[in-house]
Amino acid sequence: MILRELNGGSCKTYLLADEGRGHAILVDPLYAHVDRYIAVLAYYRLELDLTIDTHTHADHLSGCPQLRSLIGSRFAMQKWAPSPAVDRHLEEGDEVRVGNLAVRVLHTPGHTPDGMSLLVEGNVLTGDTLFIGGSGRTDFAGGDAGAQFDAVTRKLFTLPDDTVVHPGHDYRGNTTSTIGRERQGNPRLANRTRQEYIELMNNLQLSPPQNIQEVLQPNQSALGSGEISFPDWSELKKVREIDVEGLREMLAQETLPLLVDVREPAEYTGELGHLPDSVLIPLRELVSRLDEIADCKTGPVVTVCRAGMRSATAAAILCRSGFADVSNLAGGLLAWNEAGLPVER
Ligand SMILES: [Fe+2]
Repeated sequence: MILRELNGGSCKTYLLADEGRGHAILVDPLYAHVDRYIAVLAYYRLELDLTIDTHTHADHLSGCPQLRSLIGSRFAMQKWAPSPAVDRHLEEGDEVRVGNLAVRVLHTPGHTPDGMSLLVEGNVLTGDTLFIGGSGRTDFAGGDAGAQFDAVTRKLFTLPDDTVVHPGHDYRGNTTSTIGRERQGNPRLANRTRQEYIELMNNLQLSPPQNIQEVLQPNQSALGSGEISFPDWSELKKVREIDVEGLREMLAQETLPLLVDVREPAEYTGELGHLPDSVLIPLRELVSRLDEIADCKTGPVVTVCRAGMRSATAAAILCRSGFADVSNLAGGLLAWNEAGLPVER
């Protein structure tokens, strides 16, 4: 087995390979280093079966969509990931094969709802859930310190003590640790109750990463800034959110909202289905097709997508374009399906 970090910086990408069989996966590849990864794969004569993002990144552009288009590697993320570029959605307990290696998926939300850790032969890649002597921040949208505490204490800290920890980031020059060492000595987590951890994480007062929206929205939508003009932070902050229950009530009233689904056509007819009477306008086409829905500028409009991220971008674009009453369905079709509400396929 090859398990090697490829960036040599604070933001980590792992090559995981069965070198005997010549198959590899890349975990958390950076867009900026895609050339380097392809060179390393060629040097070792490895075929890249799959790329995995352990979560939706807010600090760098993902290299997974580009690797997919350049060399045809499939792209996997956890089920709650918003990106339409994902080919395979993973859930707790799923197994990913790399040659003869078996990688087991642990759902470890908290930093983001779609956080995963990957367990392979006595090693665990912990993404931005557990760091060496730290943990991933939980103050972004969808972050949840309590969920992170549960994921770490009930899943990661119950792994054997000698399991080697490979984090998604390290800012102090550490490379690896073990579960036993972190369970006993991680200053954020050791000897802390769940409530103490939540208070600690909710009061860290970290500044946001630079250009967070310029990174997040492309990672959530698999679109480049050349393809659409993304709203800025102040435009996104103004977007009104509606939850599944709120939309269900709205649909029971007399004045029905226009439902604009901004996913890709294959998603619209895919496993999650779509809301009855919704109009499909993929995010990439929204600006050029605004005239199709111009009649609804004064009435209520609800934007929907897979996880509620692309539709937040869409809602901000509609507000910017003069639509007066726009809401975004929080949690998107994933939340709608989870509530057992009706969809069409
Ligand atoms: Fe992250």
